[in-house]
Amino acid sequence: MDIMTRKMLYSKEEIDQRVRELADRISRDYEGREILVVGILKGAFVFLADLIRCISVPCEVDFTRLASYGAGTVSSGNIVITKNIECSIKGRDVLIVEDIIDTGLTLSYLVERLKEEEPRSVRVCAFIDKIKRREIPFVADYVGFTMDDGFVVGYGLDADEKGRSLPDIYIIEE
Ligand code: IMP
Ligand code: MG
Repeated sequence: MDIMTRKMLYSKEEIDQRVRELADRISRDYEGREILVVGILKGAFVFLADLIRCISVPCEVDFTRLASYGAGTVSSGNIVITKNIECSIKGRDVLIVEDIIDTGLTLSYLVERLKEEEPRSVRVCAFIDKIKRREIPFVADYVGFTMDDGFVVGYGLDADEKGRSLPDIYIIEE
């Protein structure tokens, strides 16, 4: 995949605007509470950094990392946690922050795993949702943008580690 053949999908200005809207909704929904934000490495770190600075309720931050093995993953059994969160989530309001939802396998696995530790609540905020690509039903609580097809880079999203540092989001043209 060549990240040089790309077309802008969302500009930095559109991204900033959408991040603020999401943060406002989250701030209202969690009013009077404290959020434990769990970012999924690596892709979500840019979005997370912007989001938490626009959220008006107190946020604690931790990170996790997952990997999926095998092509054409058919079951969530192929997902493993390669870096666990480092704090206790029992009784806490957990907000998972992800860059993009594709098949839904990663997030459904993570949500189930975290629920075993009896948090008070678990919600998911994803910047981009490829709804039509689901292999497993999964609905996020907060979504920045939805898209049907295509592969995107920028704003933390990569193609083989390339393109993460671009401030806008681009669709790769094949
Ligand atoms: P899934 O929902 O389990 O299929 O996994 C979603 C993960 O796939 C995301 O966290 C990204 O790492 C990666 N991914 C899916 N689509 C894209 C894309 O268009 N650009 C960059 N990464 C993507
Ligand atoms: Mg990712």
